[in-house]
Amino acid sequence: MFNLTGKKAVVTGGSIGIGRGYATALAMAGADVAIVNRTEEIGKKTAEELQNKYGIRSFCIACDVTVPEQVEKMMSEAVERLGGLDISVNNAGIALLGADENVPPEDWRKVMDVNVSGMFYCCQAAGKVFIRQGRGGKIINTASMSARIMNCNASYNASKGAVVQLTRMLAAEWGRFNINVNCLSPSYILTPMHASSPLKLRERIRELTPLGYVERPEDLYGPLIFLASDASNYVTGTDLLVDGGHTLNSWLVPLKRELPPRVTPEEEVVQLKHDLDLLGIPYDENGINEELHPNMAEAFKAMFS
Ligand SMILES: NC(=O)c1ccc[n+]([C@@H]2O[C@H](COP(=O)([O-])OP(=O)(O)OC[C@H]3O[C@@H](n4cnc5c(N)ncnc54)[C@H](O)[C@@H]3O)[C@@H](O)[C@H]2O)c1
Repeated sequence: MFNLTGKKAVVTGGSIGIGRGYATALAMAGADVAIVNRTEEIGKKTAEELQNKYGIRSFCIACDVTVPEQVEKMMSEAVERLGGLDISVNNAGIALLGADENVPPEDWRKVMDVNVSGMFYCCQAAGKVFIRQGRGGKIINTASMSARIMNCNASYNASKGAVVQLTRMLAAEWGRFNINVNCLSPSYILTPMHASSPLKLRERIRELTPLGYVERPEDLYGPLIFLASDASNYVTGTDLLVDGGHTLNSWLVPLKRELPPRVTPEEEVVQLKHDLDLLGIPYDENGINEELHPNMAEAFKAMFS
């Protein structure tokens, strides 16, 4: 039921971070995976790694998801090289920090372009393939807990709210083609997006998260395989929240832990360090490089000082 042997999948933003986690989960379950990234270099390395480790077929296609013509071309190439399409994971996304009263219109547009328009172009391109093939398909979009709580800024949170509604609309519309459309909503995950955030932030997240550790790409393997496989055939239009209970938490004082969390601080950063190695970015023993996202480093420093 959870086996994906012989299935053909596309993952956008699949070379590092959460997308690499999704690509790994699909490969572990037996699927062939096309990794889509703005540039080919890092995606190629991830594809080689997946091929060698899991014996599936994987390759990278360069594409900017904000350009509809590139998305159409990428999808045609993926379908041709994979020999069809069963699973489309639309994950490429960005966050630009900044207080909303000062956010310049070009930053707002950039976030909406990638997170909403790019997401729609990819859903549309995959939907057309599934409709043409006539055997249904699975679309999985990365939203975020930011679709339900307020934690970043207006452009990011609004864009993720839009992803959830986009997903629900397409699920309602395309069920008639046996296409399932769902989204996955992680909480804070240690990916290169977070490589400049300080240790204090991790401590705070652990305190506020009932399951007691900072989420990793590995924590999405099971939920992704569920949504990509026959196990979820009657699930559509859902936003599957995978947050360790973070968004439930409204205790005034964090509850005392009775058992140590399942994951240690060292284990939290294994994949982050792997991603930074792939990117050739140096980091300290905690996987931190403040220069990668200086605005983020500054913002968190101010928050915790
Ligand atoms: N890291 C988190 O805490 C977190 C939490 C919830 C949701 N998310 C979401 O998960 C997704 C992945 O985030 P991540 O943390 O792995 O980020 P990341 O920055 O580590 O990786 C993002 C990937 O998307 C690709 N990408 C960005 N813009 C693109 C474009 N225009 N065209 C093609 N590819 C593009 C990047 O090259 C990269 O491979 C995003 O949608 C993000 O909003 C992240």
